[in-house]
This record gives sequence, structure tokens and C-alpha cells, in this order.
Amino acid sequence: MTKILLDVVNVTKTYTIGSKLRNKSKDKVHAVNDVSFHLMQGETLGIVGESGCGKSTLGRMLVSLEEITSGTVDFDGHNLGKLGARKIRPLRKRFQMIFQDPYASLNPRRQIGKIIEEPLRIQGVSREERRKRAMELLEKVGLDANSYSKYPHEFSGGQRQRVVIARALALNPELVVADEPVSALDVSIQAQILNLFHDLQEEFGLTYIFIAHDLGVVRHVSDRIAVMYLGKIVELAGADSLYDSPAHPYSQALLSANPRMDTDETSTRIILTGDIPNPINRPSGCSFHPRCPIAKDKCRSEEPPLVQIGIRQVACHFPTI
Ligand SMILES: Nc1ncnc2c1ncn2[C@@H]1O[C@H](COP(=O)(O)OP(=O)(O)OP(=O)(O)O)[C@@H](O)[C@H]1O
Ligand code: SF4
Ligand SMILES: [Mg+2]
Repeated sequence: MTKILLDVVNVTKTYTIGSKLRNKSKDKVHAVNDVSFHLMQGETLGIVGESGCGKSTLGRMLVSLEEITSGTVDFDGHNLGKLGARKIRPLRKRFQMIFQDPYASLNPRRQIGKIIEEPLRIQGVSREERRKRAMELLEKVGLDANSYSKYPHEFSGGQRQRVVIARALALNPELVVADEPVSALDVSIQAQILNLFHDLQEEFGLTYIFIAHDLGVVRHVSDRIAVMYLGKIVELAGADSLYDSPAHPYSQALLSANPRMDTDETSTRIILTGDIPNPINRPSGCSFHPRCPIAKDKCRSEEPPLVQIGIRQVACHFPTI
């Protein structure tokens, strides 16, 4: 029977920014605002939203790379915020993050094999074992054995992403948080890498959080999708329901930004206008109201809570159900 691997309850991240000089007030950036969801073992949750909506900040909190301002993240029954550095160390190998800019994390002067072995070296695995495991991982991600002694600049973007995936899998993690893992790749290569993620999940029973700007990218790899706007989840639903019948005007707008290939519904497209509001000064009421095509008076004064409606959760006073 599958279990809840990750339980996220009312998680918030606030950054304090501004001058440290006297008489200068500091601003608070509400990067992630009261986010709750759970993730079953073996499941993939896609997280989508425009730039700055808090996806990476949330992802980093889930793997304990960012301090949580309030709320709890439970990984397999362990409250990550409450564990000290010593107790969290053995848990760290059970979750891994693939960073938004993976190339920056590949040391250009290190051989690919050594890069993949790095997490094993930190864990004190012997040289022979490390090499054996790196060879295995190269094969798993579709790179040949000669890649071991090559350097990052000798690889294409798609191949480098395979290296990053191999390194993330070196310690046999259960949860992988992949932050925009294909956004820098050509569309044809994106499909190959998404297939690789899928195959590795089948083989190793991995649980994924898959972050992307684009709903189309996460649709085929996700069981469920959470749509974020200004630090909050505004809709959470099964991938197909969300894609076929989004209930929140923002989800509808995100989908319209990526016209579907299988319909000719161009006349119903919603175009997002206006800039993304600043997370320092969130609009009153529903924070999407300045850009929402169907906003009414109530939207400007009352913040809609995220509520269960049928098989989905939506934060909107007037959802399309
Ligand atoms: N260390 C920090 N200090 C201050 N503000 C930060 C910090 N990190 C992130 N932010 C702010 O928090 C908000 C959320 O940022 P985050 O990087 O999580 O967004 P994102 O959804 O991942 O965006 P993108 O799609 O561009 O990667 C942004 O307004 C960002 O400027
Ligand atoms: S609550 Fe109002 S402004 Fe917000 S998304 Fe729904 S209709 Fe639009
Ligand atoms: Mg990001």
C-alpha cells in the first residue's frame, strides 16, 4: 500500500529585504504563503506558475535547503523543520533536488564520472564502489561508458541534463524535486528527458515534484498539478482534469498561453494582461484580481480560501465548474 511520503502543512516563507541602515524600513517578500498539500509515494506532483510565484523557494524548503518561516514539512513522518543538522543528515540522501540552473552546478574542470560520484564520496563510499555505481548510472541515463572521463563542455544540453539526473540518483533517493529540468532544452530533447524521468520512476519507484512554467511540460509526467500564483496554490487537481477543464481563471489563462494542439479553441483564449504583482505588496482580496477577466467587487475585498470542490481544490469565488 502506498503511503504519504511528504506532508506539507501551511508552509510560508517570508524574506526580509531592504537596507540595514538606520531609519530605513525593511520590506517583507511573501515568497510562499500558506501552502499545504501531500504527496503519495510513487506519485508525481507538477508545480506550475509564472516567474517569481515561489516555485523554487517552495522546492528548496521541501528538501530542507531553505529555512521554513512557518508551517511544517513532514518527510516520511519526520518533521524537517524540527530536526537538527545531525538528525537531518541521514535523511538527506532520501531526497534530492535538481536545481533550476543545473549547468552552473557542473564543475567544468571535473570529469563527468567524478561529478556523478561526488555524493557517494561525501558519504564515504570506496573508490571502486563509486566507479562501479557511476558506470551503472551512466548506463541508466542513456550515456555511454566513455562519458566517464569526459568534461561537461564536451556534452550537449540534453546530455548534461542526463549527467545531472545521474548525480541526483547516485544515493538512491526516494523523492526528487526537479526545478525546471527541461526548460533550457529544445522541444525534441525535452521529450527525451521527460521520458527518461518517467522510465527511472518506473524502475526505482521514485516520487517526483516537477516544477515548470508551462502546464504543457508537466501534464504528461504528473499525476496531479498545483498551480501557484504569488506564493499560493490557487488550484490543485489531477493532471488531466486540470488540463481539460481548469476551474481557476489563472489556470485557464496559463493554458491559453500555450494553445493546445488538439483543438481549435482559439476564440476562447484568455490573454493575461498586466504585470505580475509584486510579492511585497500583494493586492487586497484575491491577489489575482487586477489581472482577472471576471473579477467582481467581492474579489477585491475577500481573499478566496483554497477549498475542495469535487475532485479538485480551487481558490476562487467564481470558479468554472
Ligand atoms: N533569497 C531571497 N531573498 C529575497 N527574496 C527572494 C529570495 N529568493 C527568492 N526571493 C523572492 O521570492 C519570490 C519567489 O521566488 P522564486 O525564485 O521562488 O520564484 P520562482 O517561481 O521559482 O520563479 P522562476 O520561475 O523565475 O524561477 C520572488 O519575488 C523572489 O524575488
Ligand atoms: S476570486 Fe475573483 S479575481 Fe480571483 S480568480 Fe476568482 S473570479 Fe478572479
Ligand atoms: Mg524558480
